Amino acid sequence: MKIDSSLSAPQLPESLSQAGLQFTVATEEDFDDIMAMSQDIYGGLDYLPTRYSSWLQETNRTVILARKQGKVIALESVCVIDEGETMLVEGLRVAPQERGKGVAGVLLRFCSELVKSKYPEVKVSRLTRDDQLGPKDFQKYRIITKQGILLVRFRAEDLKRRLSDLGGGESQPASASLPKPPPVRLDQSAVRRLFLTSDLMRGVLPNATIIQDWQPFKPVPGNMAILMKKDIDWMVDDASKPSVGSLCTFPFRVPIGEDWYYLNIDMFGKDLDLVRQQFLSHLQRHTATLKGHIMCQMFLDPPLWKPMADFCRHALSVELVKEYTEQCVVESDVM
Ligand SMILES: CC(C)(COP(=O)(O)OP(=O)(O)OC[C@H]1O[C@@H](n2cnc3c(N)ncnc32)[C@H](O)[C@@H]1OP(=O)(O)O)[C@@H](O)C(=O)NCCC(=O)NCCS
Repeated sequence: MKIDSSLSAPQLPESLSQAGLQFTVATEEDFDDIMAMSQDIYGGLDYLPTRYSSWLQETNRTVILARKQGKVIALESVCVIDEGETMLVEGLRVAPQERGKGVAGVLLRFCSELVKSKYPEVKVSRLTRDDQLGPKDFQKYRIITKQGILLVRFRAEDLKRRLSDLGGGESQPASASLPKPPPVRLDQSAVRRLFLTSDLMRGVLPNATIIQDWQPFKPVPGNMAILMKKDIDWMVDDASKPSVGSLCTFPFRVPIGEDWYYLNIDMFGKDLDLVRQQFLSHLQRHTATLKGHIMCQMFLDPPLWKPMADFCRHALSVELVKEYTEQCVVESDVM
């Protein structure tokens, strides 16, 4: 989305233009100001420091800043996906001293007007939230799908030792059921075949949605092109008849401290043994070369949260960072 760096939206309702905010397209030079207002965000697990530069390069994305007397006080990113039908809202944040005054609401509406004017074919707006939705939100949004969030923390070296005690990630899960063949890692052509040209993943994905690290995508060619550019391990139990599929986003640094990494695993499907097996396999693969602390976040079918939390605590001896929370993909019409 190519637009001028200083933005005005003539179609903006008067109440918004009266809010005393200016809107600009974010640039590399704004990085420090954005980080300064983001310090407390997501308990130190903010992905934006790692993603910011690449976000600015993405042709289907715009990062918008709200400024008050020239000072950056809020950010939102909008990205057009689903073959142009959906505007995906991400990164929303308001400077701590400006919260609770309606700034987020104004910025959301500004971005929506902007996208509408540039992309009249956009029909819906989607975003993923992990906070408690209230009655006002339910008036605004339809729920597309929900995943439980299991957040655990460990040192890479400790986990490696634990995994080797257990016999390695590719081996059998700790369960009494029949042995299962190891999971299959998919190459790009297998991913396309499975997700685009067959209906096999339909029954596995929640509401036909591939959620990758908080981004909800419909399984369509344009989205696959976006996903294929990312560092992701795609896995299924059986490529000819999958019951469980998972996407592991390669670990990236987070600002919580030196040598802290974030590892995200999006898990789809309901079979506990297969989920456990793919989880172990991703852990095995991605902790092999890491040193330091890892925050590992797994998104999974809500009923599997409890047994997987027990497995993490007791079999893997890793620390549970928080109790059950939810990742909720919501949608509203762009009018
Ligand atoms: C969440 C946050 C952006 C809200 O900012 P705010 O300026 O205090 O919010 P407002 O005063 O505008 O009031 C809430 C409005 O924002 C919307 N909103 C609140 N939280 C939201 C969220 N997580 N995602 C999308 N919209 C949200 C509300 O629906 C409401 O919209 P409305 O004006 O159409 O009713 C702010 O508290 C913040 O920066 N928190 C830390 C970062 C964070 O948690 N971001 C959410 C990422 S999903």
